[in-house]
Amino acid sequence: MVSPELAIIPRHVAIIMDGNGRWANKRGLPRTIGHSKGVEAVRETVKAAADAGVEYLTLFAFSSENWSRPETEVNDLLGLLRKFIRRDLAELHRENVRIRIIGEREKLRSDILPLLLEAEETTRHNTSLTLVIAFNYGSRDEIVRAAAKLAREVQAGRLSPDDITAQMISGELDTADIPDPDLIIRTSGEERLSNFLLWQAAYSELLFMPDYWPDFDRNLFFDALKVFASRDRRFGGLSSKTAAVGG
Ligand code: FPP
Repeated sequence: MVSPELAIIPRHVAIIMDGNGRWANKRGLPRTIGHSKGVEAVRETVKAAADAGVEYLTLFAFSSENWSRPETEVNDLLGLLRKFIRRDLAELHRENVRIRIIGEREKLRSDILPLLLEAEETTRHNTSLTLVIAFNYGSRDEIVRAAAKLAREVQAGRLSPDDITAQMISGELDTADIPDPDLIIRTSGEERLSNFLLWQAAYSELLFMPDYWPDFDRNLFFDALKVFASRDRRFGGLSSKTAAVGG
């Protein structure tokens, strides 16, 4: 049974997994060890989210800006993602987890794109947690691609600029069929969104946690859910508490 503190479970939790490098530095270890420990935290978080009844979990695995890191680190990160999909796909599939990938796919290397597509294809009919992996993802790039699609519709005479709505823009994003995140968590004490789900975050609750990502675990995930349940979401209107007393 869900405890009363967790009475409101967010439908969609999105996480900026930050602090792998600092976790490793603090221990005098190479950054790559921080990333490997980060994958263990990913596994634990996916299980915790599924157990909690969260429907969508989005993880920021690799941003479109991450290509500017040293080549060895880029290769480490891609290698870890490849290994994660190869090793964990069967188990995720058994657990009825559906995998979705968001981000720019056009120019992705041939050693990663087919794996991502296979993960999506294999799990497409699964009905428990949807694990959304943001890979080569940048929110501004996603919005630019959506704007370009609508501009082409206008150019072709199929759409008038005056008829463009917020829903139409949402419908052209990579997340078109995914609800907006209710809760966005960033670990490591940094307090910014770093080009992650900017459009979709309009009414998300933001939670900045001091822990480095490799230390993130089931308990911290449930702590985050408790904070979320205690927040008063107003979506630009009045608090449900205020409204209830007629104030
Ligand atoms: C931030 O730490 C983390 C990343 C850039 C990547 C996160 C990737 C993983 C956890 C591994 C692969 C993902 C999956 C879904 C299997 P940082 O290197 O920016 O840390 P720092 O800010 O302390 O240097």
